[in-house]
Amino acid sequence: MLVPEQQEPSCSRCYSTKEIYYGFRPNKPTLTPADYPDLSDKTAVVTGCNTGIGKHVVELLYQKNCNVIGVVRTDAKGEEAKKEIIANNPKSKGNITIIGGCDYLDLEKVPAVGGKIKEALGDKPLNIIIHNAGLMAPDNKGTSVQGYEAMFQTNVLGSQLLQHFLDPLFLKEDDISLKRIVWVSSGAHFLAPHPFGINWEDPLYESVPIAERPSQMTLYGQSKAGNIYQAKIWFEKNKEIAEKINCVSVSCYPGNLKTDLQRGWGLSLAIARALMWDGIYGAYSELFGALSPTLKSSDSGKYVVPFGEFHDPREDVKAALTNGVAEKVWEFVEEKIAPFVGDK
Ligand SMILES: NC(=O)c1ccc[n+]([C@@H]2O[C@H](COP(=O)([O-])OP(=O)(O)OC[C@H]3O[C@@H](n4cnc5c(N)ncnc54)[C@H](OP(=O)(O)O)[C@@H]3O)[C@@H](O)[C@H]2O)c1
Repeated sequence: MLVPEQQEPSCSRCYSTKEIYYGFRPNKPTLTPADYPDLSDKTAVVTGCNTGIGKHVVELLYQKNCNVIGVVRTDAKGEEAKKEIIANNPKSKGNITIIGGCDYLDLEKVPAVGGKIKEALGDKPLNIIIHNAGLMAPDNKGTSVQGYEAMFQTNVLGSQLLQHFLDPLFLKEDDISLKRIVWVSSGAHFLAPHPFGINWEDPLYESVPIAERPSQMTLYGQSKAGNIYQAKIWFEKNKEIAEKINCVSVSCYPGNLKTDLQRGWGLSLAIARALMWDGIYGAYSELFGALSPTLKSSDSGKYVVPFGEFHDPREDVKAALTNGVAEKVWEFVEEKIAPFVGDK
């Protein structure tokens, strides 16, 4: 891909530092379970929900009687989480369906997952989609089955491909009282490459030897800039129907949280964990995007920060949302996932 012609705005180190610090010391959650509406007859799809933030999200939705379709890589891990959540919440009138086999490191696997979600949903409206599954690898060496850098494939290609299968189920004038998509990003996008958060010459590092790849945090940051772009461009691509059904599509930095995300990171992360929050706080951030009654269609493309408020992303990432650069990234991903989209 060619480096964009658009001029990169200057990025203030002061703003980056302030926002990174804010991730560790954010304001209190603005929307907590006491504020959530009853979700009887509502259905949510949550990816990566066997552990971490996703598991908390499923539990909070289920407590409000939501029907949750939980998408995981490994069936057994998903079923274990489901069992625990149901046992903890005997009064819920909702239900949880686990769909396994969703490993974004192999895009071939995604279409079948789309088919199983369609089957589980039946003729019920689909109200909420939370693209929560994500990988922050402990090194920069990961490569997918398709030969692409592992974090960009998991965090961006995977979610955008699954969304293709969810679009026909979601973009309907059925229950338009609640239509939300949350694309889970991170404050780590401040560490993404310049300009505009992407390694333009080769975003998927297809022809870069592993030894020459940048650090794993730069790679993770790039993928999380991609998530900010997805929230905006998905909405723009589907604007007419998305506005009609009052849909809100936002990206979300859930917080700095003690979850399995830091698995394999060793001592540095073990120390950083002392400053991190319990995973449930990340669920409050994601569910602000999914449930806050204050959000409108016109908020689509905005970036939620912990624990439920809007801030601006890095200056160049913000500029990319409206100067055509984010759309370029979306189109690049579309090209890469096209062989797996099929007939839906
Ligand atoms: N924790 C934080 O501090 C933090 C900060 C900013 C953003 N986030 C974002 O929040 C989201 C949830 O993270 P978390 O902290 O809850 O992490 P986590 O505990 O590691 O959970 C991540 C989930 O994603 C799934 N996943 C990983 N690789 C996958 C793949 N290739 N295909 C499909 N699913 C995959 C995992 O499945 P397995 O269990 O099978 O691996 C797990 O269910 C991620 O998008 C992450 O980037 C987290």
